[in-house]
Amino acid sequence: MAKFLFESDEEFKQYMSDTLAYVNMQNTVSKLVSFVKPQYMIEFGSGNGATSLRLAKENPKTSIVAVDLREKMIGLSKEKLFQNRVSNVTFINNDLTNLENYNLGNANLILMMYSFKYIADPDSKKENFLKDLYSRMREGAYLIIGDTFLEEGATKEDVKRQLEDRYYNNSKDVFWNNLKGLSEEDVKYAFDVQTINRMHTKDQVKFGVDRDGVYYVSREWLKKTAKKVGFKVLLGERLNSLSDTIFVLQK
Ligand SMILES: C[S@@+](CC[C@H](N)C(=O)[O-])C[C@H]1O[C@@H](n2cnc3c(N)ncnc32)[C@H](O)[C@@H]1O
Repeated sequence: MAKFLFESDEEFKQYMSDTLAYVNMQNTVSKLVSFVKPQYMIEFGSGNGATSLRLAKENPKTSIVAVDLREKMIGLSKEKLFQNRVSNVTFINNDLTNLENYNLGNANLILMMYSFKYIADPDSKKENFLKDLYSRMREGAYLIIGDTFLEEGATKEDVKRQLEDRYYNNSKDVFWNNLKGLSEEDVKYAFDVQTINRMHTKDQVKFGVDRDGVYYVSREWLKKTAKKVGFKVLLGERLNSLSDTIFVLQK
């Protein structure tokens, strides 16, 4: 099984959190959540907790449950929670696909930001997950899925090109984010972090192309399947040229 995720907060931050794609996705999700003003929401696949923590601060009347499979990430989230002293978010170490564990009938909004792609092949598993989720959600509740999607009918070569573009773009963000000055030492540090990031880049492209741990679907697939399951598709818009897209679905 591929090592497709990051083990430390520092690694995650260097690699993912500060990329333009991530920041733009989080800003847009924050805007959408402020439109809905949920009383109770669940984030599935909360990673280091950055998004749920931000949403909790921005929406003090919203109760948030954030779920991640990795104990380490939940540990980091709890540390951050302690530092930030926010009381309206709870971090839970669990598998998001075990839907019976969650109080979905009470949630006004479910968020999956860069986590939907981890539901393994075959695609029917994602379809069954959506069906199960739909059946447990309350009428009118929203499901927001923000992730990277493929083009319909993309060949392995197309997927490789798309993911290379995506991850090389991210590594340039990482270079600029880690440049803290113009001294020789500062510039060397930024290049060093970028080099480490590029090693991950190669892996990330390979995992996506080989469908080893990361299982992208096309926008068209999600649109069609969500409708089939019964969701109204309110939005399914790209955020950028790297094919990150936000879907807003409603029961
Ligand atoms: C890219 S991170 C998500 C980042 C996070 N949503 C944010 O906004 O910062 C994807 C997360 O999904 C989690 N994940 C993957 N499969 C999961 C599952 N079956 N149940 C719960 N979490 C899962 C991973 O552990 C990982 O932390």
